[in-house]
Amino acid sequence: MSNDPLLQPYQLKHLTLRNRIIVTAHEPAYPEDGLPKERYRAYTVERAKGGVAMTMTAGSAAVSKDSPPVFNNLLAYKDEIVPWIREMTDAVHEEGAAIMIQLTHLGRRTRWDKGEWLPVVAPSHHREASHRAFPKKIEDWDIERIIKDFADAAERMKAGGMDGVELEAYGHLIDQFASPLTNELDGPYGGSLDNRMRFCFDVLKAIRARVGDDFILGVRYTADECLPGGTGKEEGLEISKRLKQSGLIDYLNVIRGHIDTDAGLTDVIPIQGMANSPHLDFAGEIRAATNFPTFHAAKIPDVATARHAIASGKVDMVGMTRAHMTDPHIVRKIIEKREEDIRPCVGANYCLDRIYQGGAAYCIHNAATGRELTMPHSIAKADRRKKVVIIGAGPAGLEAARVAGERGHEVVVFEAANDPGGQIRLTAQSERRREMISIIDWRMSQCEKLGVTFHFNSWAEADTVQAENPDVVIIATGGLPHTEVLSKGNELVVSAWDIISGDVKPGTNVLIFDDAGDHAGLQAAEFIAKAGGKVEIMTPDRSFAPEVMAMNLVPYMRSLQKLDVTFTVTYRLEAVEKSGNELVAHVGSDYGGIAKQRTFDQIVINHGTIPLDDLYFELKPASSNLGEVLHDQLIAGRTQTAWRNADGKFQLFRIGDAVAARNTHAAIYDALRLVKDI
Ligand SMILES: Cc1cc2nc3c(=O)[nH]c(=O)nc-3n(C[C@H](O)[C@H](O)[C@H](O)COP(=O)(O)O)c2cc1C
Ligand code: SF4
Repeated sequence: MSNDPLLQPYQLKHLTLRNRIIVTAHEPAYPEDGLPKERYRAYTVERAKGGVAMTMTAGSAAVSKDSPPVFNNLLAYKDEIVPWIREMTDAVHEEGAAIMIQLTHLGRRTRWDKGEWLPVVAPSHHREASHRAFPKKIEDWDIERIIKDFADAAERMKAGGMDGVELEAYGHLIDQFASPLTNELDGPYGGSLDNRMRFCFDVLKAIRARVGDDFILGVRYTADECLPGGTGKEEGLEISKRLKQSGLIDYLNVIRGHIDTDAGLTDVIPIQGMANSPHLDFAGEIRAATNFPTFHAAKIPDVATARHAIASGKVDMVGMTRAHMTDPHIVRKIIEKREEDIRPCVGANYCLDRIYQGGAAYCIHNAATGRELTMPHSIAKADRRKKVVIIGAGPAGLEAARVAGERGHEVVVFEAANDPGGQIRLTAQSERRREMISIIDWRMSQCEKLGVTFHFNSWAEADTVQAENPDVVIIATGGLPHTEVLSKGNELVVSAWDIISGDVKPGTNVLIFDDAGDHAGLQAAEFIAKAGGKVEIMTPDRSFAPEVMAMNLVPYMRSLQKLDVTFTVTYRLEAVEKSGNELVAHVGSDYGGIAKQRTFDQIVINHGTIPLDDLYFELKPASSNLGEVLHDQLIAGRTQTAWRNADGKFQLFRIGDAVAARNTHAAIYDALRLVKDI
């Protein structure tokens, strides 16, 4: 048996967990009608197959109708959920993993205009900044009803074969009672710590009475809100001890911080550029003070840090949640001594930011996550070895090369630059986005193992490609910054990429016109402002940087606000003229009736990229499919069979930004779904 601390079993009451790595609760927003159907099950089972000890399914499944789903949560108050839960738990157990579910009442952390349009309840009228609903102050009959709802939901989950339930307290109703900041009740549930904890213990007692002792029960709670006037560390320790002493629960799942604002949430769940494992020592203090089973997750993305968390005795079970969205087979690879093959989580937080925008969680660089019904995590070998020539070694080209290599094909990649990476290499120029380069490095090391041939510094012409006698050609040449958006003066502006790459020196009084609204605009702003320039970001949109999304915006704002960068929304840069050494910006508005003139010494445009597609169009007449992609086959994950030219010698495809400006996930998904069947 291995002596790796991560691979030691753990006895949690009657439940034997096969190792020390868990996936903590996270709602990927895959439910259909609030139920965990085939897609949800396939996603969950993939992680069980990958070897994880326990998967905490659902993020905060709702126990009551006045806790409507904010990110397509499971609805644990529905009786018809039980058979779906049963199918999922049976399938996970068959793979040798344990499975629990997190239950919650969201309290004020939701909206009244969702679900059944019931008023939102909380122990005060204070609204939560993130979700904006002004709550009704909870009444005695609400409290009784919700306690019963928790017990009913737990009973449903037990009937569905769950090994246990965890209560989501932090930021949700249970901790809204516990925190002095959100509890303004009089009487038995307000005031003293005893009273503020009463709701939590009433819920726990009601659940225990219903599910009995042979069912795991845990609480995920904040032991330090890190907010003036909130639950502080001292009170958090006291809460931890009381939870243990209650005898009602089997483990603590420790959170540090608050989630009522985007900034607070991002400190609880740090993203790229922020420190790894920031709350691990704190979780260790709680474990030391309580001597009670302790779980914890917060940016422990790599095996070495996870191993340290267990070996040092800071926690009993370590959460690697986003890491498992990136690679569901982490434990299997540890066991097989293939840690270097683990696809690294780069903290891009595309997964989490998407659910807060109402979308489903996808991983920026694993397009199979959440698409297990059609996309494989392990690529099958092809029946016939083909020659695949790929032009471009950005994320799309490298994913195509990796997948083609896994299929067993002979793969040749041409790249015009010295190094692989394309736009990601530029992105990673920013200190805080440096982790992005692992998207490239991991693919390069996989390609190396698979024997992919690379030609860097090679500008491939049609002749070069055809001389390879390819069966398949994939154009992944990406795009070039698109700045030709003005009625006059396009030659006077520079692109955001010019600034980020260092090709153009930052100005001193700069306008960034950003209607792409993605990272490049903000990255350029930060480069210029850090170099001492005064920066204004202007957008014709209703809000700036909409593609960056909530949690990713936090580190930018922490930096840009200090650098005095200003933001102007709903104005459009229409033209630029030179006047002496200065540039005159002609500014209008899509709403009409505005014509302003402003003066700057540099104007930067961020308007996405325009495809670099000359080679594609040169090769098109010589291909068998004339570049055609059959969409139905692409969507269903089937082999492409378009045949339009009997003289064609090879199939030709175009992926990523070489087709149209999109994002890294789209580029990688293009590559995976096309090449997995070649
Ligand atoms: C898509 C997504 C949804 C999440 N939803 C929940 C949730 O509903 N309840 C919860 O307690 N934590 C939720 N989390 C937080 C995770 O449980 C975990 O604490 C967090 O991702 C930090 O751990 P990691 O760095 O290992 O990913 C969610 C995380 C993700 C990525
Ligand atoms: S999107 Fe980023 S943070 Fe989320 S799982 Fe993927 S790599 Fe990790």
